[in-house]
Amino acid sequence: MTKPQIRPVSGAQYSRILGVGGYRPVRVIPNSEVLEWIDSSDEWIRTRSGIAERRWAGPEESVSEMSVQAAGKAIAQAGITAEQIGGVIVSTVSHFKQTPAIATEISERLGCGTAPAFDISAACAGFGYGLGLADGMIRGGNAEYVLVIGVERLSDLTDRSDRSTAFIFGDGAGAVVVGPSDTPGIGKLVWGSDGSQADLITQTEAWDTAFAKSDAVNGAGEETKWPALRMDGQPVFRWAVWEMAKVAQQALDAAGITADQLGAFIPHQANMRITDAMIKALKLPESVPVARDIAETGNTSAASIPLAMERMLESGEAHSGDLALIIGFGAGLVYAAAVVTLP
Ligand code: UT7
Repeated sequence: MTKPQIRPVSGAQYSRILGVGGYRPVRVIPNSEVLEWIDSSDEWIRTRSGIAERRWAGPEESVSEMSVQAAGKAIAQAGITAEQIGGVIVSTVSHFKQTPAIATEISERLGCGTAPAFDISAACAGFGYGLGLADGMIRGGNAEYVLVIGVERLSDLTDRSDRSTAFIFGDGAGAVVVGPSDTPGIGKLVWGSDGSQADLITQTEAWDTAFAKSDAVNGAGEETKWPALRMDGQPVFRWAVWEMAKVAQQALDAAGITADQLGAFIPHQANMRITDAMIKALKLPESVPVARDIAETGNTSAASIPLAMERMLESGEAHSGDLALIIGFGAGLVYAAAVVTLP
């Protein structure tokens, strides 16, 4: 007797980004305000990181609210309705509930019906990780349209007295709708991780340790410190400049594209000097526009690439249908790079 066979599933041959949207919190924090917390200078922050200001979210600008705003724009630009979304992927490291995932609330608020919704934790590579999953879901036949959101309130995880990080992080949300395409719109994802360097960017203390301490010291009236992000900047910087330039080149090669054919380079907005070093390593021609959103937005981790993408398209620096090289890298350590067609 022949064994029963599962009916094969087939999806779209290709996928692409159909729409992008961002949300930037209202409150601007200029370097001058950061200088009230740490011993530094506007010049040091600008020259060492490229940051002039960042946005920090207010109480109403929750992870969910910022996501809904950004996703609403992306859905409108994609020309579909929320009910057509067949998957909601939210990449964040600053949603403070272990469970449930914030993605289900966001999906519900947007009106995405019963779409599968889940969070991923891949820090500054989270947007690329989400894009890869969305591409697989669509080509595998398990969804037609997938929403990928990168969202952070890193201000909640910033220790204002830590001069090595207090000036870096910002808040915001960026979202894209990925859907079926007749032509390839998302190149091979070059992604990976290196857990041997997990300590380089990490939360100062796990929540259980922090709470245990809080119980222990509360009686003694001592103040406990809320966990924050701690980063060993220099080794991360070196890793980003040397290893990530190679990963970016691999993504170009895998897509069969040369640097001069790009319409935009959109790296994770971690440090303007890292971006400049990558441009050199990739021998990117001056004619290729480069995302420099970090100057006004700071480092928003998973949100940084879609936010920068939206800004480049809105400002006319990059154009719909152009090819863009994206690369994210950060805590884990994790990374993800791909060539994509801009929406
Ligand atoms: O998003 C995830 C991925 N993240 C990244 O890729 C970030 C990678 N790292 C970086 O971007 C950089 O390492 C930072 C921007 C974080 C720091 O820049 P740096 O050039 O690596 O600074 P450093 O830590 O090597 O410090 C250089 C000097 C030191 O003084 P000495 O020892 O040379 O006298 C620091 O004490 O600058 C001093 N310094 C500061 N001075 C003014 C450190 N922080 C500050 C500050 N203001 N805020």
